[in-house]
Amino acid sequence: MKVLVTGGTGFIGSHAVVSLIEAGMKPIIVDNFDNSLPSVLENLKAITQTTVPFYKIDCNDQEAVNEVFETEKDIEGVIHFAAHKAVGESVINPLKYYQNNIGSLIVILKMMKKHQTPHLVFSSSCTVYGQPDQLPVTEHSPIIPAQSPYGNTKQICEEVIRDTVKSAQTEQDDFQLNAILLRYFNPIGAHLSGHIGELPLGVPNNLVPYIIQTAAGIREKLTIFGKDYNTPDGTCVRDYIHVMDLADAHVKALQLLVNKKQTNNTCEVFNIGTGKGNSVQELVQTFEKVNNLKLNYEFGNRRPGDVEQIYASVAKANQELGWQAQRSLEEGLRDAWNWQQKLMK
Ligand code: UFG
Repeated sequence: MKVLVTGGTGFIGSHAVVSLIEAGMKPIIVDNFDNSLPSVLENLKAITQTTVPFYKIDCNDQEAVNEVFETEKDIEGVIHFAAHKAVGESVINPLKYYQNNIGSLIVILKMMKKHQTPHLVFSSSCTVYGQPDQLPVTEHSPIIPAQSPYGNTKQICEEVIRDTVKSAQTEQDDFQLNAILLRYFNPIGAHLSGHIGELPLGVPNNLVPYIIQTAAGIREKLTIFGKDYNTPDGTCVRDYIHVMDLADAHVKALQLLVNKKQTNNTCEVFNIGTGKGNSVQELVQTFEKVNNLKLNYEFGNRRPGDVEQIYASVAKANQELGWQAQRSLEEGLRDAWNWQQKLMK
């Protein structure tokens, strides 16, 4: 099965490409290297011994996307990762986010319709839940108004997909579309080989990239944002999921879509996390312990827009996708550090 992977050289996309190949699928990558590097392609080859077809294009470029569908002919599924993801930048430059994240999805959906590609897996985020009243969050937990244009784009994209699936159900339309929206919790880690991992360009916004760069001496110290939250140790709680587990969830999602072919035009949502919450301080201490080092860190002010705590109910993913996280927090933090060390060699 040929699967178009947009953003396939990015952090999650590149790991998903590995999982797809291991599952016997045929990924085709499109990426514009906006937030990734061409060397990822070589590194993917080192892991998989496969040269993955690659097109350097922007997913907002409809003609270019059309050409990929025409050249590859029988693309059966799309995993749409390509998107901007820096929350802070989205506040400063919202139009960039609305244009890119929503525009590219619309192009992808139009081309899927034109070329009769029936299966879509979309990268959504737990950000759609904001600060939930009840934990763990289920897929039925309320969606709250987004805190940032980035979060808003995820909510809007979910709606765009739902409406497109609905429209495909009408009799006038012979387009068959099945979609799965995966709401990711916080991805960490790297491929065990250390060939691929998270490659933030510039100063990292996210916790684990900042930690590994601090441990590597690239950053002077980590600031833990807030020590006065209503949590066991006063720091925020998140659900940290190993990126390879997350990658595997995409394979399961595609398999579910393909197997459900007879019941067309469905849109399902799944939380993809571990089901366990860990505080920022716990994560830092675990990082020190598994990697046997001391991290330079201090406590600072809260970061505006952070939710206090969130972690997933993964019952639906367990039952319907047949998926659950296999790797521990320790493995994620070990693999992330291994990746950073390899980068420095
Ligand atoms: N944190 C620190 N210091 C840092 C960076 C982060 O203490 O230098 C804390 C944050 O305050 C937060 C936790 O670490 O409590 C996790 O922060 P991240 O920035 O790693 O991730 P978020 O939970 O903020 O999630 C955000 C978006 C998600 C998106 C995710 C990955 O809200 O939608 O980043 O890009 F998916």
